[in-house]
Amino acid sequence: MSSSNDSRRILITGGAGFIGSHVVRRFVKDSNYYVINLDKLTYAGNLDNLRDIENESNYEFVKGDICDEDLVHQLFKDHDFDGIVHLAAESHVDRSISNPLEFAQTNVIGTLTLLEVAKNNWKEGKNKLFYHISTDEVYGSLDEEGLFTEKTPYDPKSPYSSSKASSDHFVRAYGNTYELPYVISNCSNNYGPNHFPEKLIPLLINNIKKKESLPVYGKGENIRDWLYVEDHAAAIKLIFEKGRSGETYNIGGFNEWKNIDLVEFLCDLMDKKLDNEKGTSRKLITFVKDRAGHDLRYAIDASKLSKELNWRPSVTFEEGLEKTVDWYLENEKWLEDVTSGEYMKYYKEHYSKT
Ligand code: NAD
Ligand code: TYD
Repeated sequence: MSSSNDSRRILITGGAGFIGSHVVRRFVKDSNYYVINLDKLTYAGNLDNLRDIENESNYEFVKGDICDEDLVHQLFKDHDFDGIVHLAAESHVDRSISNPLEFAQTNVIGTLTLLEVAKNNWKEGKNKLFYHISTDEVYGSLDEEGLFTEKTPYDPKSPYSSSKASSDHFVRAYGNTYELPYVISNCSNNYGPNHFPEKLIPLLINNIKKKESLPVYGKGENIRDWLYVEDHAAAIKLIFEKGRSGETYNIGGFNEWKNIDLVEFLCDLMDKKLDNEKGTSRKLITFVKDRAGHDLRYAIDASKLSKELNWRPSVTFEEGLEKTVDWYLENEKWLEDVTSGEYMKYYKEHYSKT
């Protein structure tokens, strides 16, 4: 397939994953774009996330590794990309604690490989854009007060956040040293459809369905700021199109929840959806050993994005969570497929939460 002359050709990495699949769909539905999705299909990548758009004429999937410089170079030669939206990463903090080298490889070396190929191919960098999708976890951990702004100094504390911080630094270094046009956004915790059920919200939904225990780390007092994935995807498209080159944008929902409060809220919602007697799911809550080096609180100040680009979340947390629960209840096969086989074996071996 080839792109028409006036469409913008973009490379999206990690497009078969949770956030990436929503981002790919959004760009593919806009006929101004021709999208190449490069994804290695690790345990977190799933082409079922993209079945509805896989035959669109402005979309192509390429299975491959962002660390494979020859492959990335060939893709640049074949498509002469106008931009990259880079999401491919290892993304789960618990996995980074048991396997930090894999995180350095994909998140740091993978990003550096993309930067190097972009630099070498985009000799005339004007009108090109390297967009790195990052996390608020690079800023470290907050006490009870304050919010992360774009000016908060980096202070990553887990192997995952350290690898993302390192890749952010490399992106800025390429901007500063080689004048590579770039933009970075740092987002809070996402939730929604296609979320792999090792992260808190889909793990709880899956376990409640199966009447299995709900592991809450420590005392459940850690705080996260939750954003519906479609709102993140909308922010990403907006920043790609209208964000200023060389800038950083924080994305968040102004929606902080203490873990235990969220767990209880979700239990009650699931009871309603499953026609359970009130309180049934709460009985499954089990306090387990805390995560090593567990960051206490993340909270994002997203006012730059809302002032400059007029972005706002489109749903409340209550609405987003209900949509999410409905999606998981309607997509039992998806959940069965991703929680069977190799993943479950790995999960049970590495994450005994008792
Ligand atoms: P995910 O784990 O669901 O998906 C990652 C995708 O990247 C998968 O499809 C996987 O197959 C692919 N991938 C992994 N290694 C690869 C490699 N070497 N080459 C090519 N593809 C590879 O992750 P997600 O939650 O969708 O996160 C996407 C991005 O957004 C990540 O960069 C993450 O750091 C960032 N982010 C995530 C959150 C969140 O709450 N999930 C919040 C802020 C930022
Ligand atoms: P998670 O979804 O892994 O995202 P992150 O660590 O990137 O914020 O975890 C969200 C919060 O929930 C975090 O404070 C850890 C906690 N948590 C549990 O209490 N139990 C669990 O089984 C998981 C996966 C997370």
